[in-house]
Amino acid sequence: MGMDYSRVKDWIIREDSFDADHLGKCEAIMSLGNGYMGLRSATEERYLGETRDMLVNGTFNKFDENEVTELPNAADVTAVELRIDGERFALDQGSVSDYGRELNIRTGELTRSAKWTAKNGKSIVFEAKRIVSLARLHDIAARISVTAADDMTLRIRSGISARVTNTGSQHFSEVEKRFYDKKYMQFVEKTTESGVVFVVNSVHKFFLNGEPMELATDVNIEHRIVFADYSVELKAGDSFTIEKISSVNTSRDFDAQGMSVSELQGCSLEALKEAEAMGYQALADESAAAWKEEVWDRAPVVIEGGEDAELDQFAVRFAQYHMRAFVPAHDNRMNIGAKGLSGEGYKGHCFWDTEIFLLPYYIFTAPETARKLEEYRYLSLPGAHRKAAENGYSGAMFPWESAWLDDGETCPLYAGTDIITGLPIKVWSGIIEQHISADVAFGAWQYGVIADDEEFMENCGYELIMDTATFWASRLEKGEDGRYHINDVVGPDEYHEHVNDNAFTNYMARWNMNKAAEYADSLRAEKPELYAKLDAKLDIKTNYGKWTDGRDNMFLPQPAEDNILPMDDRFMDGEFIDLSKYKAQDHVGGIMKDYNLEQIQHIQVCKQADCLVLFYLLEDEFPAEVKKASWDYYVERTLHDSSLSLSTHSVMAADMGDDEMAYDLFKRSCAIDLGPYMGTSDAGIHAASFGGIWQCAVYGFGGLRMLDGRLRIEPRLPEAWDRLSYTVMWKGEKLGVTVAKDGVDVENLTGGKKVSLTVCGKETTI
Ligand code: BGC
Repeated sequence: MGMDYSRVKDWIIREDSFDADHLGKCEAIMSLGNGYMGLRSATEERYLGETRDMLVNGTFNKFDENEVTELPNAADVTAVELRIDGERFALDQGSVSDYGRELNIRTGELTRSAKWTAKNGKSIVFEAKRIVSLARLHDIAARISVTAADDMTLRIRSGISARVTNTGSQHFSEVEKRFYDKKYMQFVEKTTESGVVFVVNSVHKFFLNGEPMELATDVNIEHRIVFADYSVELKAGDSFTIEKISSVNTSRDFDAQGMSVSELQGCSLEALKEAEAMGYQALADESAAAWKEEVWDRAPVVIEGGEDAELDQFAVRFAQYHMRAFVPAHDNRMNIGAKGLSGEGYKGHCFWDTEIFLLPYYIFTAPETARKLEEYRYLSLPGAHRKAAENGYSGAMFPWESAWLDDGETCPLYAGTDIITGLPIKVWSGIIEQHISADVAFGAWQYGVIADDEEFMENCGYELIMDTATFWASRLEKGEDGRYHINDVVGPDEYHEHVNDNAFTNYMARWNMNKAAEYADSLRAEKPELYAKLDAKLDIKTNYGKWTDGRDNMFLPQPAEDNILPMDDRFMDGEFIDLSKYKAQDHVGGIMKDYNLEQIQHIQVCKQADCLVLFYLLEDEFPAEVKKASWDYYVERTLHDSSLSLSTHSVMAADMGDDEMAYDLFKRSCAIDLGPYMGTSDAGIHAASFGGIWQCAVYGFGGLRMLDGRLRIEPRLPEAWDRLSYTVMWKGEKLGVTVAKDGVDVENLTGGKKVSLTVCGKETTI
């Protein structure tokens, strides 16, 4: 039904039949956005199972004491009700033909069309288009056309509705709702706890057979809604068009700082009038031009080959589309939610997904955006300090889930159902999934090195790395063996809780302390003033000894004779069970329907890549035979129940030379959101998996990696691809890489500095 990934063409993904029982998939994967806001692609007409979300980045609100803060679902401007001689336009009523809904990822435009015959026998051709402007961050434009096959009265009801919630939680109080000049609608609402004011505006323009026309407006203001009714008589063959131009501004916007609510209302209305004067097409063209300049011309990834390669090409671009749609490139006080801005899942919170899965894409293609994402971590240090202090540690202990800068931990305490106890499952991640602190440090380091941004390092990066190192040093526990251990954690795998010495956590913590000590040494010698400044803040003199002691005496899990790296102190003692049933399922988490988490503790099963992420990040620290043996062991035991897992596995498979497996896993990563399973994206797209898809192409098949400060390119093209080309920013220079079956070509497109790198094992300077 509906979505057919195999039918993507060029830049377009298409749904070719409508199913009112499966609305979530297209709402999410075809969602629109510009990093400031995300708009789920709910249809104009309403259906029972719809989720109509407009999420504005960084505007978190806490509904009540028992809930964690979340991105509130703002007033809706997308719903437009049409009545044809009294009968409500809805595709699950009457009869439908020639249906299609398409997202053009090149331009960021959503279109939908159908021929529809009402039960009263009257027919129309319905066409709708919609954009969220990439050029004007506050603007949304929609165009709806009705071509009448018969004479009819068309009634339209359209407005701004704050009758929306986040799965039942109502985050807003009404402030003001009104019309200006009987034409411009405005709804002002305020989040109940965080006090963010939203001003939402809409205006309608009408055209009959292409000519502008005025319609009498019946204005209505009711509880949590402002709307207008319009009516027009159409003759058979008439084509009637509504343009609805809307905008959203909030008191959190940088350019609204210091404004009163009425000033914000006034400014946003003036800006809306400008957009109104431009009209739909000019707004859509301007936005498409921004997509071209900001994404497609800037960071092209081109895959050539047969039919499969065409689909792969689309999947990589689809990932790039979403990675621009959800990234707050305009503001360093916010980050990327695990579902981007396409749904309420994970409440808009950001995770390690940012540093480990998404950041590489931004660092290599839009470094100024990557910098903002890491500045967010720097600005959220106060929350990280508080979390450390609350837990009896020092330094910066980053929250597993993060929202407002100063929130600290925002991970909910319960989620899902325990099939044995019948109670909600306690989520330990917010308390003991602690590797995030090292992941943040790793992200800052990666950015600093690849972008060669010393200014960032001086103002934020060194501090992030040192402050997290101080946390780790205070977190270590001395064991009877005289070594330091990190006990009672959850590792990336997440199916095993309260484990000791999770390999990923221990190795990354050691990396973190080592990097802090290395930087302290070099700054002391080379930048004494900066060293003194940081010392005054971070007490490097005292902490340095703790970092080096921690680094040198840390217990690091070692592979046994079989070369397998133990994931933690317990995993290998678990029971080995047949997982084929769960591996074959078309949905994730199936094992939780048969076992509760307590039972899973004793089973050798991984939710997602754990040690394997470590091999990938700290590639040089592990010999090939350890990686291979561990791969064989863990792959068999991994369910990929998190969308983060498949891409890591694909890159690792490519690294190990298993091309077929690498390609198969890449395909499966692409299918997480694009695949045929209709329920998988209901709560929103899987942001990290998009970073993962880009990494499969560029890191895995394209062979790109930054290792210990050096750039390396070691490609492995899959059988199905003839050529792959991509560009990356390396220390301010733009490199164009073309990989063909018979070799690699690297060109400095900026033509500035000399760049030295390793290409296929050879040191080269270009
Ligand atoms: C995964 C985490 C991830 C989170 C948000 C969870 O299911 O296990 O690794 O950070 O989703 O994407």
